[in-house]
Amino acid sequence: MEGATVLALFLAVVSLLLVSPSESRLSLDYYQRTCPQFEKIIQETISNKQITSPTAAGATLRLFLHDCLANGCDASVLVSSTFFNKAERDADINLSLPGDGFDAIVRAKTALELACPNTVSCADILAVSTRDLVTMVGGPHYTVYYGRKDGRVSKASAIEGHLPKPTMSMSQIIEIFAAKGFSVREMVALSGAHTIGFSHCSEISNDIYNNSKFSQYDPQYNPRFASGLQRACGDYKKNPTLSVFNDIMTPNKFDNMYFQNLPKGLGVLKSDRGLYSDPRTRPFVEEFAADENKFFQAFAQAMQKLSLVGVQTGRKGEIRRRCDQIN
Ligand code: HEM
Repeated sequence: MEGATVLALFLAVVSLLLVSPSESRLSLDYYQRTCPQFEKIIQETISNKQITSPTAAGATLRLFLHDCLANGCDASVLVSSTFFNKAERDADINLSLPGDGFDAIVRAKTALELACPNTVSCADILAVSTRDLVTMVGGPHYTVYYGRKDGRVSKASAIEGHLPKPTMSMSQIIEIFAAKGFSVREMVALSGAHTIGFSHCSEISNDIYNNSKFSQYDPQYNPRFASGLQRACGDYKKNPTLSVFNDIMTPNKFDNMYFQNLPKGLGVLKSDRGLYSDPRTRPFVEEFAADENKFFQAFAQAMQKLSLVGVQTGRKGEIRRRCDQIN
């Protein structure tokens, strides 16, 4: 055999080995015979939900992130706790996940159970609903493959170390995403999700209140923005539901404004401002702030990758009858 042919064969084998079996078992036509109308049903229920509750898109996107990063995209975040088991959704970090995300998935599942009982997994519903909601608020479209099974385990104790917190150092945040195979650029692109949605005042109270000279305490905040946040959050101890927009300029539109905000000190969370102050992440903030197309391409690619993290297929897992209960 010629050298070039051997090399081509070798590369073909390597690329086959690189595609993990679980990924390769997902497909676009997975429900084609068993529930051909499933995408349409999801789209209808999800659009109704978003129209009546415009916070659903952000809520669902964060729900999806928290599901996929903690033990794979297996809808384990949707399971309710029982007397014997404290489930993922009751881990401290997940208590702020808003009800609208859960409700969006419950609605889609209910509609699907009527049309094709016991067929479509909650994990697939969460993945495709997230994509549809992102698109609905102006974000990029990307392909979602189907065939995920729902996990049979959901433990609050298994979350630790898998989800990013705003108080973490940039090295820790980079490490959390690297552990799931994401590059720094992909992590920055995914963080562009903060172009929509809210943060509770409790997430930023240390940054804006601990020191009256906040600009000295935290040089990356724009001082006028910090005073605005102090005013908006003034009552947060009495009213813990008080929240602020993650992107104050275009809060409900999925665009690259989040990245344009960061150099101006308009990032809400410490981790948002950290993306601009850290030399490892700053070039990507600048790239995405300058070119929305590049952000959309990178976000779409990274979301598709996120939707494949740790998926269970074939005989692993189950099709849950209710998304909040293991069968
Ligand atoms: C880079 C590290 C990240 C940290 C430290 C972080 C942390 C947070 C925190 C603390 C909130 C506020 C939650 C609340 O108070 O209710 C939030 C909101 C949000 N996060 Fe992140 N996040 C990160 C990355 C991401 C990524 C990669 C995505 C999605 C791909 C994402 C999607 C969202 C969304 C959509 C919201 C708004 C939720 C809503 O409106 O209910 N975040 N994030």
